[in-house]
Amino acid sequence: MRLVILDSSDKVAEWAAKYVLKRINDFNPGPDKYFVLGLPTGGTPLGMYKKLIEFHKKGLISFKYVKTFNMDEYVGLPRDHPESYHYYMWNNLFKHIDIDPQNVHILNGNAKNLEVECELFEENIKKSGGVELFVGGIGPDGHIAFNEPGSSLVSRTRVKTLAQDTLEANARFFDNDVSKVPKQALTVGVGTVMDAREVMVLITGAHKSFALYKAIEEGVNHMWTVSAFQQHPRTIMICDEDATLELRVKTVKYFKALYAVHKKLIVGEGSQQNEP
Ligand code: PGA
Repeated sequence: MRLVILDSSDKVAEWAAKYVLKRINDFNPGPDKYFVLGLPTGGTPLGMYKKLIEFHKKGLISFKYVKTFNMDEYVGLPRDHPESYHYYMWNNLFKHIDIDPQNVHILNGNAKNLEVECELFEENIKKSGGVELFVGGIGPDGHIAFNEPGSSLVSRTRVKTLAQDTLEANARFFDNDVSKVPKQALTVGVGTVMDAREVMVLITGAHKSFALYKAIEEGVNHMWTVSAFQQHPRTIMICDEDATLELRVKTVKYFKALYAVHKKLIVGEGSQQNEP
């Protein structure tokens, strides 16, 4: 596992966007070769999306041959509700870039049959050739997507009842009224994300530092579902200084010493544009 430690959440956003840019451009997608990208919602990836839009406007990246699969969606929230993940994705990314709406896949939390909706989502990922890069965030309780503590580490896309902690954390988006937060969501499973060829997890803020410690310094444990990615052959975690508060100094020093190696991961050949 790689851990890239950067000074601030802004640097995390920039680094992550540059990484996505480089991965897509190096892949050189075309009509017969789509790049399949897994995407999260939440506060953490907003800065990355802003940067990607900026790169797109500068002509550095096209999403014409990119297919996306989002991690999750609330159950029963209208698609045009400002807190739905459909709304979030269109407003924070898709409407600003050249992606074909047909290539966007977001779970439908209003489907008549939610189980069938989840099965179709998994099938669609398979039909698209599997996810090349899955980008995710984590909750302070170590969840990835809506895989709450205790979720199976081999779980697939399914309906989940949200933990009280998550309902409380998300109440801020629903007039601070926990009763307005949808109680269920559709979410990819840990196993779904594990199948991606590469996973990039963004972690910022002191409130995520205990989860990062559990993800990196302790064993794989279903109570901290993000820890499953210790067993993924290609996981890269990008965090800011604040998120390292619970890590050992030794761990932080070790990963920081690798910065020169990590820096090369986002530098395009002969391009100053991609310097962090
Ligand atoms: P956040 O959410 O980016 O808004 O902190 C992440 C998550 O809960 O998965």
